[in-house]
Amino acid sequence: MGVIHVEVCAGTHCTMMGAMNIMDAIHSLEELQQEMDNPCDIEVKAVPCMNLCRDEVHGPFVRVEGQLITHAESESVMAAIMDRCK
Ligand code: FES
Repeated sequence: MGVIHVEVCAGTHCTMMGAMNIMDAIHSLEELQQEMDNPCDIEVKAVPCMNLCRDEVHGPFVRVEGQLITHAESESVMAAIMDRCK
């Protein structure tokens, strides 16, 4: 099982829109995965402003294996991670 790379935008806009809650949720998922038989390695990192917050679409912005998630919520990010974790 490979490593699933997750990038959470930690710029001002995304932080105000709840990016840190998503970060916490991913860390909880990481802990849960470690207790399971076949854990996926999740590598999560906070990245500086992705320069997407100036467009029409709003954050928070998260990338899972390069796939951009707009209006990211814990649930949608978890689903994207679990999708790749099969
Ligand atoms: S703060 Fe997240 S894209 Fe700018």
